[in-house]
Amino acid sequence: PIDANFEQNREKVDEHDGHDVWGPVDEPEELGIHGTHVAVDFDICIADGACLEDCPVDVFEWVDSPDHPESEIKADPANEAQCIDCMLCVDVCPVDAIDVDPG
Ligand code: SF4
Ligand code: F3S
Ligand code: ZN
Repeated sequence: PIDANFEQNREKVDEHDGHDVWGPVDEPEELGIHGTHVAVDFDICIADGACLEDCPVDVFEWVDSPDHPESEIKADPANEAQCIDCMLCVDVCPVDAIDVDPG
């Protein structure tokens, strides 16, 4: 599962479409965590898609991740500022790739 303490245990290494990227990143195999309020561990995401289907405010968008060992697309928290902390995405992700930090 995603490390809920990633903000302590990782370093911000980049930005992507207005949200933080937490390393380590070593493309294409290692992509890190995208987002902070809504954080998706791209190295765990298997592109199940439940988060995109179930989020009531459409926080997630697909991004390409060619040659990543787990999946060729990832759920990017492109609109994390819209999140209403319903926790549905956290509950439905089959591999626990998502951390939402209310407050
Ligand atoms: Fe969307 Fe709810 Fe997840 Fe926030 S907690 S990203 S509103 S599904
Ligand atoms: Fe990925 Fe989990 Fe969403 S596997 S696509 S973060 S439901
Ligand atoms: Zn991103």
